[in-house]
Amino acid sequence: MASSAAGCVVIVGSGVIGRSWAMLFAGGGFQVKLYDIEQQQIRNALESIRKEMKLLEQAGALKGSLSAEEQLCLISGCPNIQEAVEGAMHIQECVPEDLELKKKIFAQLDSIVDDRVILSSSTSCLMPSKLFAGLVHVKQCIVAHPVNPPYYIPLVELVPHPETAPTTVDRTHALMKKIGQCPMRVQKEVAGFVLNRLQYAIISEAWRLVEEGIVSPSDLDLVMSEGLGMRYAFIGPLETMHLNAEGMLSYCDRYSEGMKHVLKTFGPIPEFSRATAEKVNQEPAPPRGPAPATPAEQRDSMNTTRGPELEPGLS
Ligand SMILES: NC(=O)c1ccc[n+]([C@@H]2O[C@H](COP(=O)([O-])OP(=O)(O)OC[C@H]3O[C@@H](n4cnc5c(N)ncnc54)[C@H](O)[C@@H]3O)[C@@H](O)[C@H]2O)c1
Repeated sequence: MASSAAGCVVIVGSGVIGRSWAMLFAGGGFQVKLYDIEQQQIRNALESIRKEMKLLEQAGALKGSLSAEEQLCLISGCPNIQEAVEGAMHIQECVPEDLELKKKIFAQLDSIVDDRVILSSSTSCLMPSKLFAGLVHVKQCIVAHPVNPPYYIPLVELVPHPETAPTTVDRTHALMKKIGQCPMRVQKEVAGFVLNRLQYAIISEAWRLVEEGIVSPSDLDLVMSEGLGMRYAFIGPLETMHLNAEGMLSYCDRYSEGMKHVLKTFGPIPEFSRATAEKVNQEPAPPRGPAPATPAEQRDSMNTTRGPELEPGLS
């Protein structure tokens, strides 16, 4: 295995997210050790990472300054967690979203790590205060929540336990930047962290508008893909407010009463009923990319329905 000047990172859990982290850390020049309770998962991960990196290299989309082969030399499987964590600077836990399972893993890590390594969880929604409760090394613990697919979406939410040391947050922030991700700090834990709170607010209102028959599912999606989403791909909602007037104070003077009037009409949390889910499933997806050239292509594109082909579990 090639030695790495950047340091050694351990990935615990070699599924979808563990593989992505492995590729990102190798791209940043880190030595990566992949651990999993299933040996076959480690083999599968190494194989799929090899294929993916070769394809990315061919497409000119491989991250970092090393070649695919050089990055692949940095990644190895390790069937023993104790051996894997020896000399590691950062451990990224990526096991399934199950509080008891993750607590068990962190308790095990807590008993074998030194006082320097960072213990980081990829959890999408478990609270750091629950995950890291009672650990001796709690100051070194943090949630680093990636967004799927992490290789293409750079944001990482950093969420500390109330006792996490500020240096742990700073070190994780610097590490994420070093591998080309875009870390942001959630200052206090909250259900859904920040990304999913924003996402769920949008989903909730989208669902309600469709359920109440105010807009069709495909037109609702167009509002985001051809409207709001175009802005939000470049600037956030607060910067949008600032630019919509002469600064934030002017925006609030002009629009806050109107916004409050509309916000008061928002209903309760939707039930996400099967009836509405089926209605959304039946709807043709909005057209994507260049308009179909022929009537046959047009028919084909309109035959696209939602549901089965949508990627599951984006978070
Ligand atoms: N998939 C997403 O969209 C997404 C996005 C952001 C964050 N996350 C979070 O990342 C974490 C991992 O999700 P995933 O989608 O990669 O899961 P996954 O099911 O693809 O992979 C989990 C891996 O953990 C392994 N594992 C199970 N028990 C283990 C143990 N005791 N020790 C070591 N390995 C063990 C499994 O064999 C499997 O390889 C979850 O907390 C999830 O919430 C997922």
